[in-house]
Amino acid sequence: MSHNIIVTGGAGFIGSHLVCALLSAGHRVVVLDDLSTGKLTNLPVHPNCHFIEVDIVDELALARIFESERPSLVYHEAAIASVQKSIHDPVRTSSVNDYGAKHIFELAVHVGSEQVIFASSAAVYGEDERLPKLETFEPTPLSPYGVQKWQNEIDAVRLAKKGRTRFTALRYFNVYGPKQDPQSEYSGVISIFVDRILQNKPITIFGNGEQTRDFVNIADVVQANMVVQELPSNVDIFNVGTAKKTSLIDLAKHLYSIENRIENIVFQPKREGDIRHSVADIGLLMSKTVYFPNVHILQGLQTLVSAVKSQRNR
Ligand SMILES: NC(=O)c1ccc[n+]([C@@H]2O[C@H](COP(=O)([O-])OP(=O)(O)OC[C@H]3O[C@@H](n4cnc5c(N)ncnc54)[C@H](O)[C@@H]3O)[C@@H](O)[C@H]2O)c1
Repeated sequence: MSHNIIVTGGAGFIGSHLVCALLSAGHRVVVLDDLSTGKLTNLPVHPNCHFIEVDIVDELALARIFESERPSLVYHEAAIASVQKSIHDPVRTSSVNDYGAKHIFELAVHVGSEQVIFASSAAVYGEDERLPKLETFEPTPLSPYGVQKWQNEIDAVRLAKKGRTRFTALRYFNVYGPKQDPQSEYSGVISIFVDRILQNKPITIFGNGEQTRDFVNIADVVQANMVVQELPSNVDIFNVGTAKKTSLIDLAKHLYSIENRIENIVFQPKREGDIRHSVADIGLLMSKTVYFPNVHILQGLQTLVSAVKSQRNR
């Protein structure tokens, strides 16, 4: 079935990959983005892809868009996607990540959208040291960013009781892949490492490098977003990862060996709000959908390095 879909944050890293997959599946897509970190060039030129520049904090503009589009499905990816920024500017990040999401969710309920699928984060788990992370753990976020994402889930649970709109929260772990902007101060560690290594510059690791993350390829994140469409429950919260952990040191070593270069790593003190270990339990998502993480980290890193190099040569 073809949907009219709103994708907030659709010009960003994850959102733009998702937009391409939705267009390929035959849907009409309306992208809402303020281009603060997203880029128009991330979006394909396609007759079913429409772009509206808007700040999700602008309630009136959003209301007009939702009233005229009346989307059956809403993907909410827009956010200031940075733990560090949320610590240094909690007011602006809260207005976008918390209130912006509230506006989107309320409007989806108001116009009778069937489902809202939104980007939550592994940051909700915070200081709970148990591994792997299970959706049933009580969130204990360490940063305002983690609190804001948790608040989105609380709002989803509340609103799912109110109308016919179903809510699906996807707690992404560490997402990587092409189009992640290494110049952005909010970017993921992999795109920054790749950028530095290709420029023959040292990479910086905060802490001793033994901290681990569940790095999930963008293709698997898009897959998760597609397979949760039309789940029957009123509200679901799922981890999206690979269930495998990689330390930052090993990650750096893999990248240096792919590029056949000598390691050049600078260590800096651990940063506030950074968690030590993180790996997802993905049993719930796999039991309720056909999700299966297909991209092994080594394969994903190789593909990414090739994509970045060919982009630079163009
Ligand atoms: N990348 C990851 O590893 C990761 C992990 C967990 C969760 N997430 C979440 O996934 C989502 C997408 O993240 P991303 O990595 O693609 O980041 P991104 O910065 O590339 O994408 C965010 C998009 O939202 C837009 N945006 C920001 N503020 C806005 C506003 N006020 N109004 C309208 N648009 C706005 C940006 O311009 C950008 O296009 C975010 O919600 C993020 O919190 C990402």
